[in-house]
Amino acid sequence: MVQASPFLNPEPRTTPGVLAIALLSRDNYQPITLEQSSGAVDGYAEGATLNTRFGSFPHSTLLDIPWGSQVRASAVDTGSRGRRKRKLEQTDEDTPAASNNDEESENVSRGTPAKQAVVASSGFIHILRPTPELWTSSLPHRTQVVYTPDYSYVLHRIRARPGTRIIEAGAGSGSFSHASARAVYNGYPTGPSDRKGKVFSFEFHKPRYEKMQEELQSHGLEGIVELTHRDVYGEGFLLNGESPKATAVFLDLPAPWEALHHLSRRKPKKAIAGENGDSAWVSPLDPEQSVHICTFSPCIEQVTRTVEELRSLGWIDVDMVEISHRRINIQRDRIGISVPNERGANQSPADVAEALARLKDINKRAAEYQRLQFQTNGQNDTEMDVDAPEPRLDKNQSEEAASTEDDDKPWAQGRLCHRTEGDIRTHTSYLVFAVLPREWDEEAEAAAFAKWPCGKESKTIGSLDKIARKQERRDFLQGKKKQKQDKKEKKRAENPGPSDPPQATGVNTE
Ligand SMILES: C[S@@+](CC[C@H](N)C(=O)[O-])C[C@H]1O[C@@H](n2cnc3c(N)ncnc32)[C@H](O)[C@@H]1O
Repeated sequence: MVQASPFLNPEPRTTPGVLAIALLSRDNYQPITLEQSSGAVDGYAEGATLNTRFGSFPHSTLLDIPWGSQVRASAVDTGSRGRRKRKLEQTDEDTPAASNNDEESENVSRGTPAKQAVVASSGFIHILRPTPELWTSSLPHRTQVVYTPDYSYVLHRIRARPGTRIIEAGAGSGSFSHASARAVYNGYPTGPSDRKGKVFSFEFHKPRYEKMQEELQSHGLEGIVELTHRDVYGEGFLLNGESPKATAVFLDLPAPWEALHHLSRRKPKKAIAGENGDSAWVSPLDPEQSVHICTFSPCIEQVTRTVEELRSLGWIDVDMVEISHRRINIQRDRIGISVPNERGANQSPADVAEALARLKDINKRAAEYQRLQFQTNGQNDTEMDVDAPEPRLDKNQSEEAASTEDDDKPWAQGRLCHRTEGDIRTHTSYLVFAVLPREWDEEAEAAAFAKWPCGKESKTIGSLDKIARKQERRDFLQGKKKQKQDKKEKKRAENPGPSDPPQATGVNTE
């Protein structure tokens, strides 16, 4: 049984052996595989420990907690690790180390059970469930990657949905692979004949291929992403000579046009003689459905060559898109010269009252300065420090200027405003989209005509003939009429008007 992927079927709580994303600070993520330690690990008496600049976090404090939990740092016992460090320092100072230290440290890391973690006085992180978006933001980069704004649009345009079979090349760092795996997932295949949504990914760089294979396995994505080590320009996209029957293709390659001829319905002229069996050329595409493709290229010259090739191979609806993504931050700006200078905050008066108070204060200071200048002229210059920073207005100095809101909830202070964030990481590339219509022959034409008899609508449409369609329409209209009547009657029963007196009961009340 395959281990369920935390990207696809997450458990409600963190479990050992599962990938988690530690949120250290805003946009600062660190992926970790949570470990259950039975003893000291790497010199930490508490077992496997995540070290960050916000403190140390033994994995035991990150396990069996709901995803999204905030976890406080622990005061870890560095055991042998600390002693080793101290020993090194002592050796540096030419002081001989105590001889039993090594033995002791060995004991710590062997049989002794892991120590209970003790909460430290400060520092915390959040533990997040892995998603393709978080993985994209935290994955170890081996190549340039496709970022969320691009792949979310690409997946939508190539019609990726549960059950879709996608061809992807090259796999690179696996950013797109993770996102597409989630998009097509409709269960793990139970055997080779079980046709489920799948990503057929290709990568020709051996170390990258091996690293990604490891990641797919540890992320529980092996049944969903099938990675092949191959140069797709020369060798195409078949798997053991068989077609993946893909309906969607994503090419993030330096020269996508070199791979396009393999993505045809019939043997293209460009195919090398003998390649893929001269007589029975097999297409990697699903013959019964249209195929949507996207190529991802940073230069317009690459786009031009790709579009030329797409056209010559019969792809239609060719268009190009560039995604320009901007995040808009909504925040409160505390405006006023009396508030501390916050990063990006506007240091101007909040209102006329504050401006007047400030002017009066400046005038007062100027007069004071003049007076002191006059008094100290030629005497003691050190009495006045003219370079000292001006004190800020505080509440007592300017009651009107200081906002009464200051005493209220701090998050409700200031004016609500928005700012666009310019430095979002996206790899700006040109996205070329195209469609290859499904395979069409006389048989397909006859089947379509039988189902939708164009020009002979009086006959059968779908499974209904003309009389049945008329009856269906009549039933539908009658149903609507009845609904309307029922509604009217219900309303009348609820609000009997003066013109509609209650029924006489026959009892004389006089
Ligand atoms: C920009 S990276 C792809 C990044 C990937 N889309 C991601 O989101 O992480 C391009 C990859 O294509 C691979 N590649 C280049 N030419 C190839 C070829 N002919 N066949 C297979 N892979 C190829 C490179 O090794 C590289 O890893």
